[in-house]
Amino acid sequence: MAHDLHETARALVAEGKGILAADESDGTIKKRFDPIGVESTEENRRNYRELLFTTQGAEEFISGVILFDETIRQSAKGGTPFPELLESKGIIPGIKVDKGTKPLALAQGETITAGLDGLRERLEEYRSLGARFAKWRATYSISDVLPSDDCIWTNAHALARYAALCQEAGIVPIVEPEVLQDGTHTIERSFHVSSRVLAAVYVELSDQRVDIEGTLLKPNMVLSGYDAADRAGPDEVAERTLACLYKHVPAAVPGMVFLSGGQSDEDATANLNAMNVRRPHPWQLSFSFGRALQAPVLSAWRGKPENVEAAQRAYYHRARMNGAARSGAYTAEMERSETSSQ
Ligand code: 13P
Repeated sequence: MAHDLHETARALVAEGKGILAADESDGTIKKRFDPIGVESTEENRRNYRELLFTTQGAEEFISGVILFDETIRQSAKGGTPFPELLESKGIIPGIKVDKGTKPLALAQGETITAGLDGLRERLEEYRSLGARFAKWRATYSISDVLPSDDCIWTNAHALARYAALCQEAGIVPIVEPEVLQDGTHTIERSFHVSSRVLAAVYVELSDQRVDIEGTLLKPNMVLSGYDAADRAGPDEVAERTLACLYKHVPAAVPGMVFLSGGQSDEDATANLNAMNVRRPHPWQLSFSFGRALQAPVLSAWRGKPENVEAAQRAYYHRARMNGAARSGAYTAEMERSETSSQ
């Protein structure tokens, strides 16, 4: 079992590849569909996910896809269940298992992630539906005083309980402590908060007997706040993010799969690239992007069947750009190159 977990974790961060996060909850996918004028019905959600999962050649750059509860139970038009369709392309199916963030009791403006009750049974079912890895996201806000120690330690504890349950079920846990980068904070403040959060997460994972080699970390990049006046560029983001990871993440972790947060798709790719230019590192530095892989796809699609091909080209292009960033080979010229189409 441990061997399988290690193997799956390593396969998810194979050279040149990363993860598509397509696990938007009903509330979040509605937020993505509203601006393009698409109603969030079950059929539209299914059509959109089918567009992504049937994109030819995406498997050259995509190792795994994180699904939402509804999606793991849906099928392509031909009747093939989505997990089976992905497996047939060599893409590993995963599942979001947290139940979203709730206000942390007795705290002001902080959250705790729900979903531990009944998780053992849900994991068993997801495994039977084909999931081989999972995701749980905790969130932390930055202000002059936040996050509190309470928020940091309660979320670290829950992340470790989730991770232990996943491994017991033969599922690789992706541990996602997301320090939100909204606000006007400096990159130094982001570094300090991200450091405290990661330090707590690895104490809890170790105390709760989680096998680190059978996990992946999904961290935020260390950034200046999105509303900061003077924002750090890719070189500084890479230096700060790497410094933070080197201090707090054991070398036994096979890889980091960064989230994109509120960055533009090209910024997220450029920042990942800048980190990989500085290789070698003890871990693979990869991606598990939601918005940074899907924003151009949604704009191209707009819910119209005649746009499916253009939307798939947009997805393939973003996947290819991020695949290049995995080895530090991404350039601004590639963004506009003809050869990036399928
Ligand atoms: P973003 O890349 O849009 O931040 O999404 C990644 C994710 O899965 C957040 O939980």
